[in-house]
Amino acid sequence: MAIRKVARMGHPVLRQKARELSVDEIRTSEFRALVQDMLETMNEYSGIGIAAPQIHEAVSVAIIDYDEENPCTVIINPKITVLDETTQAFWEGCLSVPDLRGLVHRPRKVQIDYLNLKAEPKQIVVEGFLATVFQHELDHLFGVLFVDRVQYGPGTSPIAFIEEYQRYLIPKEEDDVGELDE
Ligand code: NI
Repeated sequence: MAIRKVARMGHPVLRQKARELSVDEIRTSEFRALVQDMLETMNEYSGIGIAAPQIHEAVSVAIIDYDEENPCTVIINPKITVLDETTQAFWEGCLSVPDLRGLVHRPRKVQIDYLNLKAEPKQIVVEGFLATVFQHELDHLFGVLFVDRVQYGPGTSPIAFIEEYQRYLIPKEEDDVGELDE
């Protein structure tokens, strides 16, 4: 068990499509150890989610810690289906893209089909902030970073360093956007 080094933007492992895991692989002690390392690394950096490529392992598993009552959700080999294409915007951050925040528009409701740690098929429907959390995390398994989803263009300021974000851009209560610091 160990806290792992987090891959930062520019490392090729973050741009690979993660390999799907077989049921036999999921049941190995090596895989359990990987998930444990992901958990320890996520907690060390106060993330609310982490994907295996972020600790230099290009396999299709992410963990998301969204519920204070329950243990982390382990998501293996996910497939995402958009249930509501209406978009919502949140300011996102990422352990692999330190010091930056970007405003990202994503569908507001998605369904995720995946395997859990026992290799059982599961399905979850998430909306609102959680839909953004899951989509951000699962993007990592397809080689996508939140900076790819920022809408760039003149006259906008969709991406910022944390200091400037906090000084000039942090959402005010009346704004219809929130924050995700993954
Ligand atoms: Ni991330």
